[in-house]
Amino acid sequence: MGSRLAGKVAAITGASSGIGRAAAELFVAEGAQVALGDIQDDAGRAVADALGDAARFVACDVTSEDDVAGLVDAAVAEFGQLDVMYNNAGIVGAVGPIDSTPAAEWHASLDVLLHGVFYGVKHAARVMKPNRSGSIISMSSTAGVMGGLGPHAYASAKHAVVGLTKNAAAELCRFGIRVNCIAPASMVTPMVAYAHTGDHTNIDGALAELSESSPLAGRPGLATDVAHAALWLASDDSGYTSGHCLATDAGFTTGSRPDAPGFADYAPMIREAGRTGL
Ligand SMILES: NC(=O)c1ccc[n+]([C@@H]2O[C@H](COP(=O)([O-])OP(=O)(O)OC[C@H]3O[C@@H](n4cnc5c(N)ncnc54)[C@H](O)[C@@H]3O)[C@@H](O)[C@H]2O)c1
Repeated sequence: MGSRLAGKVAAITGASSGIGRAAAELFVAEGAQVALGDIQDDAGRAVADALGDAARFVACDVTSEDDVAGLVDAAVAEFGQLDVMYNNAGIVGAVGPIDSTPAAEWHASLDVLLHGVFYGVKHAARVMKPNRSGSIISMSSTAGVMGGLGPHAYASAKHAVVGLTKNAAAELCRFGIRVNCIAPASMVTPMVAYAHTGDHTNIDGALAELSESSPLAGRPGLATDVAHAALWLASDDSGYTSGHCLATDAGFTTGSRPDAPGFADYAPMIREAGRTGL
């Protein structure tokens, strides 16, 4: 039990599972009160019940602006204020080649992955501006900072989240509100278990695969790794950080690879055209 979020109130979307759930548990362990939104009602209520008086579940589909506004308003009504908004809810969305992606799947993907984040930033700003403080955190992805790492709609939405983060940060700084996002690589969660094994409950299968592919020799990324990044952005420890996209990817987007070619062994320095030595 820590106190890095003592006295703070957070709203988290997609809190019934994976990273959102891990963040809810960590935020409460660090002293926050949390309003948890999700479309999985039973699972969300179970998470909130396990966290006791510090947590409330609010049925919230992030594709509905009214629902997201309702989550924000419920946090204020239940706990008196909103200090942290974590726009975390997400899906894999439309998968497949660009020339056979159905437009309806494209739109439905962006409804969750981008429009849901817009509603969260908008309504958090609405209640944070009068208080002249707040931390808004949204979920991007390594697929939002590099090409080729996710399906087209997913990658497009996650890139857009980085752009929205920078733009909203530029506007909201004068109100004391910080706006940041997180770009995780593949972390072991039900979403990734499904993507890797076809079964969202196969966490062990995802653990095995991600241990092997991790740049950090055998150390897979976990939901709690992202929750800790969110904790830092939520807390006053990051008080001078805004407009930032924080990668939790073991260096993948900066070139780290488990099989990185290296210059690990000493060889005489090469001068011009094959001449070695000094
Ligand atoms: N796990 C990863 O490797 C990874 C990597 C990069 C980014 N992300 C992002 O992290 C976020 C969380 O992913 P996760 O891995 O924990 O997945 P998850 O599937 O375990 O959890 C996602 C949660 O979002 C909820 N959700 C989905 N659609 C919703 C909607 N319309 N309204 C409200 N809630 C909704 C789901 O019910 C679920 O509880 C997502 O935005 C995802 O894109 C995950």
